[in-house]
Amino acid sequence: MENIVEIRNLYKKYQLGDLEIFALKNINMSIKNGEILAIMGPSGSGKTTLLNLIGCLDTPTSGKIYINGEDITELNKKELVKLRRFYLAHIFQFYNLIPFMTAIDNVELPMLIAGKIKKHDRLKRAEYLLKIVGLNKRIYHKPDELSGGEQQRVAIARALANDPLLILADEPTGDLDEDTGIKIIKILCDIIKKERKTLVMVTHDSMIASFASRILKLKSGSLIED
Ligand SMILES: Nc1ncnc2c1ncn2[C@@H]1O[C@H](COP(=O)(O)OP(=O)(O)OP(=O)(O)O)[C@@H](O)[C@H]1O
Ligand SMILES: [Mg+2]
Repeated sequence: MENIVEIRNLYKKYQLGDLEIFALKNINMSIKNGEILAIMGPSGSGKTTLLNLIGCLDTPTSGKIYINGEDITELNKKELVKLRRFYLAHIFQFYNLIPFMTAIDNVELPMLIAGKIKKHDRLKRAEYLLKIVGLNKRIYHKPDELSGGEQQRVAIARALANDPLLILADEPTGDLDEDTGIKIIKILCDIIKKERKTLVMVTHDSMIASFASRILKLKSGSLIED
């Protein structure tokens, strides 16, 4: 399959009482396997909404989203959970690590939930992933014993745990200073290329977006460039 994501005539409308907000209006786009795509646009333009729809965290008002050829708008809850678990991973602006768990336990957790590999192999893989992101000396640190950049590296390692096809990152460097942000995005993009994954990242920062192979721009819920 050449395109990991295909989006056709996608609309997302939020209804707040009488107020209708069209967060996304007739989005048509595809994302190729192996691509590093940056989504940019002003605040409120629909970036997070689009990322969350691709990530099956929300459902569209109308239109179609295909992931790896599968129409996700036709899947039931159980099928969506399965698809998310084995195909997709998220990286958030504020890391979203479990605060009382060490780095290695945080990275192990998605593997534990997926229930496919044994404890010993899970820990070995978690250790390996933390090494890839340069945190082999921090594996027993808890999130509050790590810097912001280190926490985001744990989150990157965690995102890779179940070997997803597609990684979705919503302003992954938004809470970091520029130098750290660039360091983190370099690590992330290197892994994406080496492991032949696909990355979609939302960013406000054109320096960060310059690491992408393509940039899409949203304005008031519509795509303005492809
Ligand atoms: N749950 C919701 N209910 C109602 N309106 C919403 C909801 N979520 C988002 N919106 C509206 O949809 C539009 C798009 O929001 P979205 O979060 O996708 O923007 P964004 O581009 O990610 O902005 P930012 O750069 O500030 O994160 C905004 O006008 C927002 O107010
Ligand atoms: Mg957003």
